[in-house]
Amino acid sequence: MLAFRPLHGTFAAEAGGVDLTRPLTGEQVAAIEAAIAKYAVLVFRDQRITDDQQLDFSRRFGDLEETRGTGISKPGEQRLHPAFADVSNLDTDNSVLARDNRRRLYSLGNLLWHSDSSFKPVPATYSLLSGRVVVSKGGETEFADMRAAYDALDDATKAEAADLICEHSLIYSREALGFDDLSEAERATMRPVRQVLVRAHPVSGRKSLYLASHIGTIIGWPVPEARAFIRDLTEHATQRRFVYSHQWRPFDLVMWDNRCTMHRARRFDPAQVRDMRRTTVAGTARTVALAAE
Ligand SMILES: [Fe+2]
Repeated sequence: MLAFRPLHGTFAAEAGGVDLTRPLTGEQVAAIEAAIAKYAVLVFRDQRITDDQQLDFSRRFGDLEETRGTGISKPGEQRLHPAFADVSNLDTDNSVLARDNRRRLYSLGNLLWHSDSSFKPVPATYSLLSGRVVVSKGGETEFADMRAAYDALDDATKAEAADLICEHSLIYSREALGFDDLSEAERATMRPVRQVLVRAHPVSGRKSLYLASHIGTIIGWPVPEARAFIRDLTEHATQRRFVYSHQWRPFDLVMWDNRCTMHRARRFDPAQVRDMRRTTVAGTARTVALAAE
């Protein structure tokens, strides 16, 4: 019997009584959707799924994003089916990427707080991350509850943030780490997109801050002032009281709602194999009406 045990107050829950290697019933899918609307992060332990099983499970929640055309991987450099984001540190021949490997350095952007695909015009809803080979030390994924962070803002800050629109791009998050080794062609695929700063969840109705290190500015604001405000909000939103830190065990699958959470990976020994595979459920609507762009 599918049941959920809260892990951090009303944020994050561990699922029990479900086997993701088998097709789910409609009731099970509905129960997972209700639980993620409540907890935003769901942990499924000991799910020894194949890539096909992960695709089947993920597709029960909507169409999947394709990773082709985002980031810096070229055709032929992908280890996995195009519906997977390869969050591993492995090359196509399954060897560990060298420390100075360009794709590895680019992927270190995952160590910064972000929401998946906020740099796309229609950003992602859910991400599903399967830990196939996990590291023995470090490499946790931390999640911040952006609903609780919003609720805890004072009224003046809520009013100030209410109607703001931000520009998101992969260029900004990479710039933050000093990674500016991007070709003109790559930059052209990373053109900034606009997202609201405060969004309401379509199921729970709860408001949340829509933050990410992909933010480069706020429309109508001077850039340094915008970045200082976003940095302030991010510090607020990532206080320990809003954070659940997931310590990976082999074959954990963690599913989260990008509309109301941020996450980041923690550092780990770059010589160790870490094979993490993410599928991503595409969103269905922009956060900013086209007319406002
Ligand atoms: Fe991510």
